[in-house]
Amino acid sequence: TNVNAFRDDLISWFRKEQRILPWRENQDPYRVWVSEIMLQQTRVDTVIPYFNHFMSRFPSPEALAEADEQEVLKAWEGLGYYSRARNLQNAVREVVESYDGVVPSDPDELGKLKGVGPYTKGAILSIAYDTPEPAVDGNVMRVLSRILYVEDDISKQSTRKLFEELVRHLISKEDPSAFNQGLMELGALICTPKTPSCMLCPVQDHCSAFEKGAETELPIKASK
Ligand code: ADE
Repeated sequence: TNVNAFRDDLISWFRKEQRILPWRENQDPYRVWVSEIMLQQTRVDTVIPYFNHFMSRFPSPEALAEADEQEVLKAWEGLGYYSRARNLQNAVREVVESYDGVVPSDPDELGKLKGVGPYTKGAILSIAYDTPEPAVDGNVMRVLSRILYVEDDISKQSTRKLFEELVRHLISKEDPSAFNQGLMELGALICTPKTPSCMLCPVQDHCSAFEKGAETELPIKASK
């Protein structure tokens, strides 16, 4: 089917072309968590050195839990959005106290942690725990709005929920991590906001926007 071919083409491309990034060295849920929080408002190239330093200074949930908040903020200095760092440390302290230092693999437990919204939750569950959960951020909405020709306003909460439902149907049950990261990587390397490289796109054959010559018309963002 088309869905199967799309999924396979995306995953094959990701396996071959993915960037070598420090948080892709292993599937440690704590590393995945830290990386996804850092990447939320900050570019990959900026995050890399901060991530490496943070991991050598706070290599485990226990190490982060017992650090002084000021040390954590010091390691975050320059990344901005410092509430991310404070929420992360609070949530990691909760993981150490209530879950014996093991990041929960249960979606509801994970989602209760401070600063772990639907995107971060889905990223941890899929990338670290190989669970077929959606991880939909702005980049993923851009990619999928083009492939599926979704004209809904991506600044609406209901549209993100629509994309989460679409991903639940599309996602690979064999390799949810490669599927979700493939969407992220496609958004970063090929399906970029202003001038997407459609001629190099591994899923060009599956893209409704490309077929219509309308890739730059999407996504639709009313506000912001
Ligand atoms: N942006 C958000 N999550 C990412 C990831 N895991 N790899 C690369 N870029 C990302």
